[in-house]
Amino acid sequence: MTDKEFNVNDISINDLDKIAEIWLETLPYNIKAIIGKKIIINYINEIFESSICLKKGIYKFNKLHGFVFFGNDEDIIKKLFLQNFTYIIFCFLKDLLKLKFKKMSCYVDVSIYLIVSFLKKRKAENSSELLIIAVSKNKQNNNLGSILITESLKDNYFAKIDKISVVTLKSAKENINFYEKNNFKIIDNIYGRVLLELSF
Ligand SMILES: CC(C)(COP(=O)(O)OP(=O)(O)OC[C@H]1O[C@@H](n2cnc3c(N)ncnc32)[C@H](O)[C@@H]1OP(=O)(O)O)[C@@H](O)C(=O)NCCC(=O)NCCS
Repeated sequence: MTDKEFNVNDISINDLDKIAEIWLETLPYNIKAIIGKKIIINYINEIFESSICLKKGIYKFNKLHGFVFFGNDEDIIKKLFLQNFTYIIFCFLKDLLKLKFKKMSCYVDVSIYLIVSFLKKRKAENSSELLIIAVSKNKQNNNLGSILITESLKDNYFAKIDKISVVTLKSAKENINFYEKNNFKIIDNIYGRVLLELSF
C-alpha cells in the first residue's frame, strides 16, 4: 500500500454510518460507544452541525478508511448531554440493573475525569482540540493516521490557531507514541489521562 493511493478530504454527512462503524470497531471502550451507537450518531451529528469543527477523512477510491475531528469538546458534550439526558440515564440504569460492572466503572471514571478536568480547565485563546481520530483496524499502522493529521493541518481552519490539544488514556501507550510521533508534547496528567499539545 502506498500513501499516494489515499487522499484526505472534508467528510460529508453521507459518511455518517461509516464513521460510526469505524468508531465502534476501533474504540469499543470509549464512553460514547459504551452508552450506545445512538449517542455516537448524535455526537457526529452535533459535529456536523457545528460551524467551528473541522472534519476530515482519509479515502481510497471514495471509500472512507479513517477520520479526524477538531473542535471544542466541552460545547459539544454539554449539548449532547442536555439533549440526551433521559436516554443516558436510562442506559446507565439498564447497565446498573444488569450488573455490568465494567461499564459501571467506565461511567464513574469518566464522570470523575470530567469534574477534575473542568476544575483544572485553562481557557486558551486561539486553540483547538483534536476530538477523535480513528483508522479502520485493518489499515492501522500504515501511516494513515499521521497523513490525516499532516494533511488536516494544511486546512485554513488552523490559520489563526496557535495550539492543538488532545487527551488520551495514560495506559494507551501506542496512542501517546502516535501523538508524539506527530509532534505533540505531553504537558499534563489529568486523572488517568495525559494532555498533549501541538504548538505552532
Ligand atoms: C491511533 C490511530 C489513529 C493511529 O493511526 P495509524 O494509522 O495506526 O498510525 P500511523 O501508522 O500513522 O502511526 C503508527 C504509530 O502509531 C502508534 N499506534 C497507535 N495505535 C496503533 C495501533 N492500533 N496499531 C499500530 N500502531 C499504533 C504506533 O506506536 C506507531 O508507532 P511506530 O511507527 O513508532 O511503531 C489508529 O491506530 C487508531 O485508529 N487507533 C484506534 C482508535 C484510537 O485509539 N484513537 C485515538 C484516540 S481518539
